[in-house]
Amino acid sequence: MASALTDAHGVPLSGTAHGVAAFDQALDRMLRFHPDVLTAADELTTAHPETAMGHALVAYLNLMGTNPADLPGAASAAAALAQHAAHPRELGHVAAVEAWLGGDWITAAEVLDTVLEQWPADLLALAIGHQLDFFLGDAANLRDRVGRTLPALDPGHPHTGFVRGMQAFGLEEAGHYGQAEEAGLAALATNPDDVWAIHAVVHTYEMQGLVDTGTRFLLGRQGDWGADNLFTVHNWWHLALYALEAGRTDRALAVYDAEIHHATSAGVPIEMLDASALLWRLLLDGADTGGRFAPLADAWAPLATADPWYAFNDLHAVMALVGDDRLAEARAVVERLRAWLPSAQGTNALMTARIGLPACAAVVAFAQGRYADVIAELQPIRSMLHLFGGSHAQRDALQRTLVEAALRAQRPALAAALTAERVSRRERSYHNWIQRARALREQGHETEAATAEAQAAEHQRSFAAAFTVP
Ligand SMILES: [Fe+2]
Repeated sequence: MASALTDAHGVPLSGTAHGVAAFDQALDRMLRFHPDVLTAADELTTAHPETAMGHALVAYLNLMGTNPADLPGAASAAAALAQHAAHPRELGHVAAVEAWLGGDWITAAEVLDTVLEQWPADLLALAIGHQLDFFLGDAANLRDRVGRTLPALDPGHPHTGFVRGMQAFGLEEAGHYGQAEEAGLAALATNPDDVWAIHAVVHTYEMQGLVDTGTRFLLGRQGDWGADNLFTVHNWWHLALYALEAGRTDRALAVYDAEIHHATSAGVPIEMLDASALLWRLLLDGADTGGRFAPLADAWAPLATADPWYAFNDLHAVMALVGDDRLAEARAVVERLRAWLPSAQGTNALMTARIGLPACAAVVAFAQGRYADVIAELQPIRSMLHLFGGSHAQRDALQRTLVEAALRAQRPALAAALTAERVSRRERSYHNWIQRARALREQGHETEAATAEAQAAEHQRSFAAAFTVP
């Protein structure tokens, strides 16, 4: 059915004028990662059930959390969407939501690209497709999906700034750090509180070892990202990563306790990932994590026993269980995945078979001191970890696990090769140089090891200065 109605970006949709206005408002909240999007979406579907795109928004909000507990909510919204969808754009969203709900994340991402071919200014299709590209580790499309849409947008519309922020993250994950920083800063010139653009810029600094620049950038803009948005925890996690590089474990743990995981945390996977990833880095470094793994493992426990849904989450659940010495439960996750795979279908089955299962098995092996097994699990997959999603920075937890295992397994040649590679890619890194020093010392290269240690200390000093309050 043709429709005379269009949304704020001129894309047709069905419903009523009031419903469309409410959809535009809710979409605006989503692009800002504003918590109000949740109530705005509920009010939209309650007050304007005939506006199909509202149901699409609710379905996606439930799916984006990657939490199996949210799937019934997504299914209800999908049914309402199918009932009310009338325009071909809306039918495209029906297909995307149904594919994702059915476990075919790849098809969902592809369908949204098909929608965008026809209606490149469909910002819901773009924003959700962007998230799917992230979940699928598809760096090229994370960059290019956005590039295909930008010419269709009014350069002066505030939402175009948010799209530039998305482009910044895609450029960063695809390795174009200069362009990414430029796009991210341009996005922030339009919307200083664009937390996704802030995050993209923070990633460019992370990947280049510009920890001091990144720290000052985050601390200087804390009012724009540090509270009251749906992406707060993850940006705090990035600050904690900087703190580790600066030798400020105390600061990283303070951020963890205040912002990343505590008694009143939401307990959602997308935030618990960050908690696991930070504590796991500390565990690898032999740091004292206090009793922090225990409540985190408790928070992960329901997901660790649910039907498999997203392999990236499984890995971080296993990290938390292992960190809390709950080895039997961690092994049970691995065995459950192994038993599930032969009859499993869909995108997560592919992710689990290729990356998730060996990664989980490696973490369990690490906890048991079976370092040769860690190497056997991780070395063959280390160049394709992106297949189970996440960012370069998030997946680095596994690369660090491999380096540490090589050092502990008395495989100094492997450790030296891995650390040489890391230093060549990111010279400005305390962690990379200190691990390189250990590898060189094990090889008997004492002078070179001492030089590497001096390099590590120099970087740490320069980074620590950025944490000093003027
Ligand atoms: Fe990130």
